[in-house]
Amino acid sequence: MTVHFIGAGPGAPNLITLRGRDLIAASPVCLYAGSLVPEELLAHCPAGARIVNTAPLSLDEIIEEIQAAHAADQDVVRLHSGDLSVWSAVGEQTRRLRALEIPYTITPGVPAFAAAAASLGQELTLPGVAQSVVLTRTSGRASAMPDNETLANFAQTGATLAIHLSVHNLASVVASLVPYYGSDCPVAIVWRASWPDEKIIRGRLATIEALAANTLQRTALILVGPVLESQDFQESALYAVGYDRRFRPQSADSPFANLPDEEGRDG
Ligand SMILES: C[S@@+](CC[C@H](N)C(=O)[O-])C[C@H]1O[C@@H](n2cnc3c(N)ncnc32)[C@H](O)[C@@H]1O
Repeated sequence: MTVHFIGAGPGAPNLITLRGRDLIAASPVCLYAGSLVPEELLAHCPAGARIVNTAPLSLDEIIEEIQAAHAADQDVVRLHSGDLSVWSAVGEQTRRLRALEIPYTITPGVPAFAAAAASLGQELTLPGVAQSVVLTRTSGRASAMPDNETLANFAQTGATLAIHLSVHNLASVVASLVPYYGSDCPVAIVWRASWPDEKIIRGRLATIEALAANTLQRTALILVGPVLESQDFQESALYAVGYDRRFRPQSADSPFANLPDEEGRDG
């Protein structure tokens, strides 16, 4: 018996990995975080599966479900939205499972920030503009931010910010960022990226509050940074004509020219 934690993706039911879908189809128990995981994914469960929405359950109750499946030697899939590496509560569940000696696996999923960038039709790193994306949030009722993880500290880098769990805090997000990015800096709010009712609001730090006007609650990402409208960035050297690289040696003298095929010619 194994518990399979699966990143269920940002919302569209076809944005789950094939591995995740196949594990759902093979497991007689499915525990899903009903607040964000699309119900269409449950159609992959086998006939007769025990399907439990864990949104109203405590951690103890979720672990009891898993222990019952363990006693019956039944595999469990545990679905969380997006990817499991950020804000998924997988850490506390796997800690309990390790203590109980219940085996588990983790299958990654499409995170919300990637879905939001796709909806915007944009790359979040551009040469010479920003080469880092900060995945962050502001303090919420359930989780305070560690002292140094302030928006102001991240803003000092000028990186692209993907601010989660904070659309209700928009005024304070804007106030923290204006001193670093300037009021003209582009901002996009993507609400329910990849869901059928997805909404996108684009503006600037100076205008975004008025444009959003408290219309978007929960499940929204705030993306901030010059990459959101930069057009005159450099092209990356990687594909430049004449750039000497492992997969495209430019001359017989290139240090890449005589690499064995499996290493040097795979591109
Ligand atoms: C508990 S976190 C889950 C993050 C998730 N594990 C991930 O990989 O993206 C929930 C927050 O993620 C963001 N989020 C999740 N799904 C989203 C979506 N489809 N569109 C926009 N933001 C989303 C929102 O900021 C929301 O408040």
